[in-house]
Amino acid sequence: MNSVFDYSGFLEETLQESRKHAERGQVASYIPELKKADPRMAGVALMTPQGLFEAGDSRVDFTLQSISKVISLLVALEQRGVEAVFSKVGSEPTGDSFNSIVKLETSEQKPLNPMINAGAIAVCSLIPGSSVEDRFARIADLLEKILGRPVEVDESVYKSEKETGHRNRALAYFLKDINGLEGDVEEVLDLYFRQCSILVNCADLARIGMFLATKGIGDDGTPIVSAKAVRLASAFMVTCGMYNGSGEFAIQVGIPAKSGVSGGILGVVPGQYGVATFGPALDRKGNSVVGISMLRRLSEVLDFSIF
Ligand code: DON
Repeated sequence: MNSVFDYSGFLEETLQESRKHAERGQVASYIPELKKADPRMAGVALMTPQGLFEAGDSRVDFTLQSISKVISLLVALEQRGVEAVFSKVGSEPTGDSFNSIVKLETSEQKPLNPMINAGAIAVCSLIPGSSVEDRFARIADLLEKILGRPVEVDESVYKSEKETGHRNRALAYFLKDINGLEGDVEEVLDLYFRQCSILVNCADLARIGMFLATKGIGDDGTPIVSAKAVRLASAFMVTCGMYNGSGEFAIQVGIPAKSGVSGGILGVVPGQYGVATFGPALDRKGNSVVGISMLRRLSEVLDFSIF
């Protein structure tokens, strides 16, 4: 794409065209605090070698939710190593919903991958530290290095999740029973709920996308995490990042991506762009309908697909 391409105009046009699809989705309601989101919100941001371009509600904060699974996976890979991570999680897509409990007992006694809730909770248990605060600081620290600013937790979402996360609690206690989770179960869950409640906006996610697109290099050109960890995380994003919608997303958009139930999607166009969308109305698989629509259009015009 040449440097005179009108990214801002293109993002605005894409956003206006896609936002009507919000009516096909529904805001997540299983975490009470998330029900308050306005389904009509829509934002998009694209980090390019020429800088950041954005449109719509790109500076509205929302919680990272499942997108945080990519960050904690990077921390665990860096601090505990590949072998330790793969001793607790597998590397296959599930074809089931993100919070499914069904395959836990049949899948070699470990969650099938680190992008589903069970796998992400197992990964959280690997993050070293003497307390939840200490462990959380390692996740926050990585994000702060990428974003160049301190990160905050949305306390009401965190409390809401902690109070109502019965299914995650069930997954975690089951993992503990099969030797799939290190340390204290409630402490690990607390860490997981906190990482899900970190506040970001589309501009932040596009920056994270660019960091992954450049194999772990920060804004100032210094490596923040190893290229190997980024390669593994990106592979998981392709195969499992959009849950049981990952296959269709690979065909329609064709990039490593990770969605979250608050409506964000983080996308990586290796070597080229970081991209992010926001739209709280979700499809039945838990992915933003407006976000997917925008990413399909962006992929078509900017030739995103890695395939
Ligand atoms: O575990 C949960 O329910 C949430 N905190 C995260 C789930 C999530 O974002 C799934 N994504 N689409």
